Amino acid sequence: MKILVTGGTGYIGSHTVVELQQNGYEVIIIDNLSNSYLSVVDNIEKITGIKPVFEQIDLRDETKTNEFFKKNQNIAGIIHFAALKSVGESVEKPLDYYQNNILSLINILKGQIEFKINNFVFSSSCTVYGQPDELPVTESAPIKKALSPYGHTKQISEEIIKNTSSNANINGILLRYFNPIGAHESVHIGELPIGTPNNLVPFITQTAIGKREMLKIFGSDYNTPDGTAIRDYIHVTDLAKAHVVAIGRLINKKNREKTEVFNLGTGNGFSVLDVIKSFEKISGLNLNYKFVDRRSGDIERVWADTTFANKELGWIAEKNLDKMMLSAWKWEQALEQVKRNK
Ligand code: NAD
Ligand code: WQD
Repeated sequence: MKILVTGGTGYIGSHTVVELQQNGYEVIIIDNLSNSYLSVVDNIEKITGIKPVFEQIDLRDETKTNEFFKKNQNIAGIIHFAALKSVGESVEKPLDYYQNNILSLINILKGQIEFKINNFVFSSSCTVYGQPDELPVTESAPIKKALSPYGHTKQISEEIIKNTSSNANINGILLRYFNPIGAHESVHIGELPIGTPNNLVPFITQTAIGKREMLKIFGSDYNTPDGTAIRDYIHVTDLAKAHVVAIGRLINKKNREKTEVFNLGTGNGFSVLDVIKSFEKISGLNLNYKFVDRRSGDIERVWADTTFANKELGWIAEKNLDKMMLSAWKWEQALEQVKRNK
């Protein structure tokens, strides 16, 4: 059974391609390589023994996207990861974010309708909730005003998918990821942040390996037990596995609504200091860090209510924080080894 994975050479996409192949699916990747490398395709093959088909297409290009669908019939479902994802960059270049994330989605959905592909899984984000009033946050929590153009593209995308699927023969699953971290246990694939990382965990591992001088902890005066902000970190392989379940659910028509929404997290909240302590424990190192002002646009705390995903999908995130941090650290060390061998 053929699955199209857009953004499949990216961080979460590549881990999902591996899990799909290991579950017997045939995978075609579309990516424009704007934030990933072609070598990921070979690295996926190193893990699974199967080289996924790769098409370098910019999904903003309606003609090329349509030609792809004409050429590739019998696609059973689409998992749409392709998007720009940097919150800070989206504030500087909002139009690039709206153009890339919304246009790509529209072109994919047009292809779905024209070529009668019924099943669609979308990468959404916990960012759609903003700072929730109640924690853990459930899928029915109100969608608050977006804190960034990036977050807004996810809110708009969710609406576009709901509107489209209610009129067309498309069943959709919107997966709201919390904070994905870590890398594949083989260390053949992982996150490849280009330039200075914005996210906490790559910044921690890059500081520990000596690429960065010091981690700045954004805010020590939050209303949390240790004063630092709280998030729900989830291992990328656990996240990837949920996509295999989601696409299978759609293919086997187990979905209850035309568009279903699931939170993907562990259900546990950890503070920035918890994450650092876990890193220090698994690595045996002392991390160089200091406290600075809060980062603008950051929320104080969020973690998922995963009851719906656990019950309906029969899926549960398995890796705890220490395992996630060990995986992230092994990945950083593997990247350093590759650099030394060059
Ligand atoms: P990523 O940047 O590693 O992967 C996205 C991939 O999409 C990249 O390989 C990029 O080259 C490709 N792409 C972007 N625009 C494209 C276009 N116009 N045409 C074709 N390919 C294009 O990001 P990721 O972390 O793997 O995120 C995947 C998805 O998950 C994104 O939609 C992101 O918004 C969402 N998400 C990510 C996180 C996170 O923290 N990583 C959290 C919540 C949601
Ligand atoms: C985690 C915590 C920071 C870096 C972002 C997006 C969100 C989603 C996931 C896509 C926060 C603190 C960070 C640093 C720090 N992505 N931190 N020093 O902000 O929860 O979410 O990625 O949908 O939309 O906003 O993740 O990893 O950047 O930060 O103290 O150098 O670590 O303030 O409390 P965030 P993050």
